[in-house]
Amino acid sequence: MEHKKLVPFPEDFLWGSASAAYQVEGAMEEDGKGLSVWDEFVKIPGKTFKETTGEVAVDHYHRYKEDVQLMAEQGLKAYRFSVAWSRVIPDGHGEVNEAGLQFYENLIDELLAHNIEPIVTLYHWDIPQALQDKYKGWESRQVIEDFTRYSTILFERFNGKVNYWVTLNEQNVFTSHGYMMGSHPPGVKDPKRFYEANHIANLANASVIKAFRELEIKGKIGPSFAYGPTYALDSKPENQLAADNNETFNAHFWMDVYVFGKYPKLAMKWLEENNLAPTIEEGDYALLAEGKPDFMGLNYYRSSTVEHNPLDGVSEGKMNTTGEKGSTEAGGVPGLYKGTDNPFVEKTNWDWDIDPTGLRIGMRRIDSRYELPILITENGLGEYDTLEEDGSIHDTYRIDYLKAHVKAIQETISDGVEVLGYCTWSYTDLLSWLNGYQKRYGFVYVDREENDEKELKRYKKDSYHWYKKVIENNGVTD
Ligand code: BG6
Repeated sequence: MEHKKLVPFPEDFLWGSASAAYQVEGAMEEDGKGLSVWDEFVKIPGKTFKETTGEVAVDHYHRYKEDVQLMAEQGLKAYRFSVAWSRVIPDGHGEVNEAGLQFYENLIDELLAHNIEPIVTLYHWDIPQALQDKYKGWESRQVIEDFTRYSTILFERFNGKVNYWVTLNEQNVFTSHGYMMGSHPPGVKDPKRFYEANHIANLANASVIKAFRELEIKGKIGPSFAYGPTYALDSKPENQLAADNNETFNAHFWMDVYVFGKYPKLAMKWLEENNLAPTIEEGDYALLAEGKPDFMGLNYYRSSTVEHNPLDGVSEGKMNTTGEKGSTEAGGVPGLYKGTDNPFVEKTNWDWDIDPTGLRIGMRRIDSRYELPILITENGLGEYDTLEEDGSIHDTYRIDYLKAHVKAIQETISDGVEVLGYCTWSYTDLLSWLNGYQKRYGFVYVDREENDEKELKRYKKDSYHWYKKVIENNGVTD
């Protein structure tokens, strides 16, 4: 569908950028902060690229004013960040640490003073270690109450200052990496435990949204979901079926629960057959039904392409966390689908497909099925950057990537889809969980390497100046 004339971006479109606590803050044990599962997990040898940790990260905790100043100068309209649960409640369920809350209040006030809309993520993967030790974190239903209490504390404290709240960041990613692939904390590889923990996370998500409504907190709330459309390798019906399976098991399996309060029938049938279905207790569906979000938060990086996978086919693949192009090995689920190469798109050095049209397709699919406005909560390019001697960084590849995605968003808006805003990933460079510091995403370069923090000095990349103009011109990219 080509439009003769593209509809302009809405006047109040949120041109933003994003980060997450563990990836930027540092100050691991400062001002009463408790440890999170990530603080501990990264200490296990071999878990992260070159054993990198977020102990110091990019020191945003101490430099937030400088970072907000850079945002203000750029004209940023929104900044999405996450709150570290263990900074606010060090052991996850006991006493509140006022210093932790104060840090976030200072950050929010600083943003508001510069007319930047704070978008607050309640959970970006860093559950307090104390809850992991006490009751196995997301595997216990006690987490529902603790997560709701923690969220309520934030709602009440920042009510009126924050208009956009994100509940769980990429529930599909933290549960599958944490319990199926063993690559995120708690490092478990057990499909049964994965589906159980995921169900509990669904309940926690709904419970928080329910509390938000009951307390009549101002603003909008929704999850951030990692989604990219799935394509079939070709028109062979078996491959189309595989693509259909992938959408059902990796997208509808979460988004249907958020919006309709139930799992897709097809997936539940398969889980039951394979003795993997989560335990559903009385009242679960009633709670899920009360968790309908105001928007669908979308984290989009890439699309994926699949083909038929026989019952004795491949399962586990291999991730590229080194930046050596071509080192990914595709995985799949026997009997459902397996990943394959898309010959029509370019790839990053980490083998992620670059596909702006995929963003448009993905948003149209979300719009048709869920009829909710979309807030793009992440989109960006992780690449190597070079700091030149004069302090410049010529990240043309990032500008190209972002420009193409901004265009795709405008086309999607022209298709009739409601898009509230666009947060690029990320504002400053930051720690890429498993890929160290060399996989950079920011508009602002932070001078540090994997195991050398240097002075953590900030430099504006070419993309910083480019985005400034995009914001000024409300989406006109060149
Ligand atoms: C998303 C996360 O999965 O993608 C971010 O919400 C993350 O926290 C981003 O950094 C990019 O992924 P990666 O693995 O390249 O850091």
